[in-house]
Amino acid sequence: MRSLAEIVLEAESTLSVIDDLALLEQAKAKYLGKTGELTEHMKGLGKVSAEDRPRLGQEINLAKEKIESVLNAQRDSIQQRKLASKLAEEAIDVTLPGRGRSRGGIHPVIRTWQRVEEIFRSIGFDVADGPEIETDWFNFTALNQPDNHPARSMHDTFYVESESEEPLLLRTHTSPMQVRYARMHKPPIKVIAPGKTYRVDSDATHSPMFHQVEGLWIADNISFADLKGVYTDFLRQFFETDDLEVRFRPSFFPFTEPSAEIDMRFGSGPLKGRWLEISGSGQVHPTVVRNYGLDPEQYIGFAFGSGLERLTMLRYGIGDLRLFYEGDLRFLKQFA
Ligand code: DAH
Repeated sequence: MRSLAEIVLEAESTLSVIDDLALLEQAKAKYLGKTGELTEHMKGLGKVSAEDRPRLGQEINLAKEKIESVLNAQRDSIQQRKLASKLAEEAIDVTLPGRGRSRGGIHPVIRTWQRVEEIFRSIGFDVADGPEIETDWFNFTALNQPDNHPARSMHDTFYVESESEEPLLLRTHTSPMQVRYARMHKPPIKVIAPGKTYRVDSDATHSPMFHQVEGLWIADNISFADLKGVYTDFLRQFFETDDLEVRFRPSFFPFTEPSAEIDMRFGSGPLKGRWLEISGSGQVHPTVVRNYGLDPEQYIGFAFGSGLERLTMLRYGIGDLRLFYEGDLRFLKQFA
């Protein structure tokens, strides 16, 4: 058996360098465990004379206390170090600026949509919404384009497979909303219907999905002069300038008679002096008025259909329509 002093000396030097709790407990067993060296000394007490016993007992206890105090100090220091490193690992630098959450912006075409609604509402137009999957009847037939009418081939149309007897398609224009709205309201009818439209078409100025806004004003005495006034006023408000001219160029649409293409020309700015095509329009054809469920002898008025992408491109000077749908943030952020 080693002397108490030796044991204590060794215990102090071994225990004070252990830096793991489990190892520390293992090392403790060597001295204080059931078969530990100090325990052996204790067991030996019985064989010692009664005279020597108290002194020896005291010495063993003292040795035990010394070892335990080294153990406790070491345990504390291991735990302290563990806590400190955990805190360091999870440290949050409260002085860093927040990451923030980036907010989306309104798409430029939707901005145009909102502006158009605002302007037309301010002059008494209702705003209506309708289905993008449309029946053949509303999209073509009701608008005076019977099955065999050559005008039908003007649109390359996405047809939708369906069980229904009537062919369904993605509406090629917002004009069917004229008919839907007029059949549900009493004249005077004064409405715009903005929304998505679809055609098999794709290049720098055409997208298979695009947006139009339909306009319709029907009452006893709405004339081409009203169309001219309303539309010119709209353009001046939309482009925020009075310095623009508007002209009506004869054209053909099956649902209007007479029909006109509306062109505009800026008096200043980068597009100054160029005639730009902006909308189709016309006086609603009597057959179409009849399909509204109204008597064309009594009701008359105008309609127009304008492209929202086109309006947006002219307003911001954008040259390629595909930019609207590529989702490129460098482009979109300019409008946020
Ligand atoms: N629906 C036509 C198109 O998509 C545009 C149009 C022309 C609408 C004349 C009208 C109109 O309401 O009167 O090409």
